[in-house]
Amino acid sequence: MQVPYLDLRAQINSCRREIDAALAKAIDCCSFILGPDVLDFEKQFAKYCGVRHAIAVNSGTSALHLALLLLDVGPGDEIITTPYTFAASSWAISYVGARPVYVDINEATFNIDVTQVEKAITPRTKAILPVHLYGLPCDLEELLKIAARNSLPIIEDAAQAHGALYRGWKVGSFGKIACFSFYPAKNLGAFGEGGALLTDDSIFAERARLLREHGAAERYHHQEIGYNYRMEGLQGAVLRVKLNYLQTWTNARRQIAKRYSQLLADTPLRLPIEPEGSASAWHLYTVRHPQRDELKKFLEEGGIGSSVHYPLPLHLQPCYQFLDYNVGDFPIAERAAQECLSLPIYPELSDEQVAFVCSRIHGFFRNAP
Ligand SMILES: Cc1ncc(COP(=O)(O)O)c(C=O)c1O
Repeated sequence: MQVPYLDLRAQINSCRREIDAALAKAIDCCSFILGPDVLDFEKQFAKYCGVRHAIAVNSGTSALHLALLLLDVGPGDEIITTPYTFAASSWAISYVGARPVYVDINEATFNIDVTQVEKAITPRTKAILPVHLYGLPCDLEELLKIAARNSLPIIEDAAQAHGALYRGWKVGSFGKIACFSFYPAKNLGAFGEGGALLTDDSIFAERARLLREHGAAERYHHQEIGYNYRMEGLQGAVLRVKLNYLQTWTNARRQIAKRYSQLLADTPLRLPIEPEGSASAWHLYTVRHPQRDELKKFLEEGGIGSSVHYPLPLHLQPCYQFLDYNVGDFPIAERAAQECLSLPIYPELSDEQVAFVCSRIHGFFRNAP
């Protein structure tokens, strides 16, 4: 048996006919940039998340960039965020000339350690940018309290957390602004790049629409220096179809995660958790072990794909040397980077495949020195 780390084809096959029809319609209408499908997707995705406005853009990175522009963040400003995430969580901070101020993560959740956030606030802090890593909501209750106490907005990086719940509410509905990615491998993935900015604030929504479209509300009349961050019409058509499946797919991911947790409970692996009141979207199922590299190789030899998210925290990345962080500054994130291993998880993964992965992992620990 082979278990690829990711199998996008299996997902596409499950809704292929509807997508083909939606794409054909969009092509017939020549709606290639924004257009009716994107508009409809925006409405439905906003409704799904319980937020008033969704502005569809060409990537999650662009959504984060727009979020910082809406908050007028610029040179000299600081944004508190996590060093343990995909680099794009920090790109937008750098794009506007601000400084990412990192706070270490919580050992058990991989998310920003809320007990350390307030210490990092200075008069230059403009926002807190937590990431719901691997699909698991951050400790939003505590973050919202800190934000309120210090009059700071929260920007949720929900790029990995479509459909995740915190106290029964969808993530993306807690911050002043939330950003999603529809990169093909995400829980809700386009047939190319895609992203969305969500907000309840109508003024922000209007300005985000302006900025994503060359800063022009009226063609060739540019109120602001803008960007070409528009979502393509064909991506809107694909996402509109796939959104109908998102809840079913999320439920399937939850079942798979549950199965992994049952079957791996008696191994030395440290397993992912869901704190009380949180329901992960299980974008990734990431375990931890000091012999991560050996385990990864052993799985690979058995025809099982796995992946490392992420091997180097952002404060140690070459591009961020100028921030002057050092090894040891964020020890929990640094250790997680050495130990984490993401196992295959996607809605189409069969019970047999999950059992096969787990038996191979048991085999590894039986043979381990
Ligand atoms: C946590 C996180 N933030 C931001 C992004 C950026 O999204 P995109 O690749 O759509 O630009 C990603 C995804 O790739 C991500 O995983």
